[in-house]
Amino acid sequence: MSLKEQINISALPKHIAIIMDGNGRWAKNQGMMRAFGHENGTKSVKTVIETSVKLGVKYLTLYAFSTENWNRPKLEVNALMRLLVKSLKSELPLFHKEKVKLNVIGDIESLPSKAKKELNLALSETANYKDMVLTLALSYGSREELVKTFQEIADKVKNNLISPHLITEQVIKEHLYTKSMPDVDLLIRTSGEQRISNFLLWQIAYAELYFSPVLWPDFTAEHLYEAILNYQQRERRFGKTSEQIT
Ligand code: IPE
Ligand code: IPE
Ligand code: MG
Repeated sequence: MSLKEQINISALPKHIAIIMDGNGRWAKNQGMMRAFGHENGTKSVKTVIETSVKLGVKYLTLYAFSTENWNRPKLEVNALMRLLVKSLKSELPLFHKEKVKLNVIGDIESLPSKAKKELNLALSETANYKDMVLTLALSYGSREELVKTFQEIADKVKNNLISPHLITEQVIKEHLYTKSMPDVDLLIRTSGEQRISNFLLWQIAYAELYFSPVLWPDFTAEHLYEAILNYQQRERRFGKTSEQIT
C-alpha cells in the first residue's frame, strides 16, 4: 500500500501548521546563493498546498517570514519580498482551481506596498472559497501577536467594555490573528531544527510536533504523508488517561 493509501481520511489533522525551514542550507549545499534556496522552496509550498487540499485538510498554515527575519541581510529580505509577490501572482490560479481561501497573519502593515497589493487582491478574490483555508504567516511573531492582543484587551477594560474577571481563554483567542481558526493539530518543522522560533505559541498548546530532517526545498507530498501517518499513530490524551480515551 502506498503511503497515501495508508492515511485514515476520517482522522486527518484539521489544522496543519508548517515551519518551512532549510532553504539557505539547501542552497549552500549546492554552492548557490540563499535566494536560490528560497526560490526552490516555493515548489514545496505549491506541492504542500495541492496535497493538503486534495487530502481534505481544512486549515494549512505556513510560516513564511518571521518578525525576526527582518534582521537578515537586506539583500535576502528584498529577495524574499520579491518572491512573495511573484508567488502570489503565479499561485492565484491554483487557489481558484482548488477553492482555497487565502488568509494572512502577522504585521501585514510592515510589508512592502507591492506585497500588500498582491495580498489584498488574492484575499478578496478567494474570500468565498471553502475547501481549505491557507494561512500565510508573514512578518509574524507569536509574542508580537500576544502583545497586540493584551493591548487590545487592556483598552477594552479601560473603556469598561469588559471586566478583568471576564477575560477568559476564549476572550484571548478572539483577539489573536488566528481568531477564526481551530488550534493547530499537527506542527511540522523541516530541516532538522527542533524549536518553535516564535510561531503560534498559544495555538500549539496541544499540537503534535513532528520534526523532519528534510530541507524545505526537498520536502515532497510523500514527506507530508509520512508526517500525517506519524500523527495518526499517536494518542492525543489532552491530559486524560489512555483508558479514558479508548
Ligand atoms: C526558511 O529557510 C525560510 C525563511 C526563514 C524565510 P532559511 O532561510 O531559514 O534556511 P536555513 O535555516 O538558513 O537553512
Ligand atoms: C523560522 O525559521 C521562520 C520561518 C520559517 C519563516 P528561521 O530559520 O528564521 O528560525 P531560526 O531563527 O533558525 O530559529
Ligand atoms: Mg532557518
